[in-house]
Amino acid sequence: MIRPVAYVAGTGRGIPAKVMSNHDFAALGLDTDHDWIVERTGIVERHIGAPGETTMSMAATASRAAMKRADVSAGEIDAIILSTATPDRLLPSTAVDLQAELGATRAAAFDISAACSGWVYGMTIAEGLISSGVVETALVVGAEKMSAIVDWQDRASCVLFGDGAGATVLKRAATADRGILSVYMRSDGSLAELLWRPSGGAKVPYAQAVLDDRSTYVKMAGREVFKHAVRSMADACDRALDAARLTGQDIDILIPHQANVRIIEATAKHANIPMDKVYVNVDRYGNTSSASIPIALDEAIERGRVASGTTALFVAFGAGFTWGSMVVRF
Ligand code: ACO
Repeated sequence: MIRPVAYVAGTGRGIPAKVMSNHDFAALGLDTDHDWIVERTGIVERHIGAPGETTMSMAATASRAAMKRADVSAGEIDAIILSTATPDRLLPSTAVDLQAELGATRAAAFDISAACSGWVYGMTIAEGLISSGVVETALVVGAEKMSAIVDWQDRASCVLFGDGAGATVLKRAATADRGILSVYMRSDGSLAELLWRPSGGAKVPYAQAVLDDRSTYVKMAGREVFKHAVRSMADACDRALDAARLTGQDIDILIPHQANVRIIEATAKHANIPMDKVYVNVDRYGNTSSASIPIALDEAIERGRVASGTTALFVAFGAGFTWGSMVVRF
C-alpha cells in the first residue's frame, strides 16, 4: 500500500465571462468554420479574458475558491506555485502578485514554465516540498491568458486556445486513505521548435522587426505536436499507473489535458479507460494550457464525478515538449 504524502484539500477555477464561439472567427476575417474546428478538435467555444482581466486576476479567483473549499486561510499557505506560459510581466513572477493579492504573508511564491504540463509539474514540486518537511500547505495554480500570445491571424493555432485559471490546495496527508499515489514527469527540449514563441525573450528581445514578422506569437507544427502528444500521453499513463501499482481498470476517472478530443480519445484507448470515465470539457474551453486540468478537476468535483474514494488519473502534454502524469485518490 502506497502511503500518500499530500492530498488535494480543495479546488477552484477562475473563468472569464466572455465566450467566443467558433462562429465568431468569421468577424476576424479568418478563413475557418465551425464544422472544421469541431471535427478536428472537438472545440465549440472558449473563454477570452477582457482587457482588465489578467493571468493574476484569474488565478486569484481560482485560488480563493480553492482555499474556501479547503478551509484554508491566506496566512496558512506556505508555498504558491503558479504555472503559466503567459506571465503578466517577465520580472518578477506572477506568483508574487498572487501572493500579495491573497495576503499570503508566510508564503514563498514562484512561477514555473512547463507549458500545458505545468499543473502536473507544479503538483509534483509541491508534493516534494511537503515531503521534505519545508511546507505543510501549498497552493498550486495553472493560469493562462493565451489570447494575449496567440497569433489572431493564424487560423491553424488561434482557434485552439482559451483563457482561464484552475487552483488546487495541497496539504500534508494525515491518513493513508487519500492523496497523491504516483507522479511522473519527462521532457524533450530537442523538439522545442515544434511549439514555441521564437522571439520576445532575452535571446531575441522585442524590437520592431520581431513585431513586424509576428515571431513573438505562438508558432506550432500542429500535425507533429499531435503525434508526439498521443505517444507521450500514452507513455505517461502507463508510468503513473505502474508506479501506483494500478491498471486502467482501477481508475474511476481520467482527467487529461484538454487540447483536442481526438488526442484525449487516443489516450483513453491506450490506457484501457472507456470514454464514459473520461472528463472532457475541451468543447467549452478550448486549450487553456496548464489551467486545463485543474479547471476540469474543479468541474468534475462540482458535478459529483470526483468524490471521496475516487481514484483519478491525470495526464498532460505541452510545449517543450513536456509531459507528465499523476494518480490521486480523493
Ligand atoms: N480552419 C480551416 N482550415 C484549417 C484551419 C482552420 N482553423 N487550420 C488549418 N486548416 C487547414 C490547413 O491549412 C490544411 O489545409 P491544406 O491541406 O490546404 O494545406 C488543412 O486544414 C489540414 O491541416 P492540418 O494541420 O494537416 O490538419 P490536422 O488534421 O492536423 O488538424 C490541428 C490541425 C487541429 C491543429 C491538429 O494537428 C492538432 O490538434 N494538433 C495538436 C495541436 C495542439 O493541440 N496544440 C496545443 C498545444 S500542445 C497540447 O496542448 C497537446
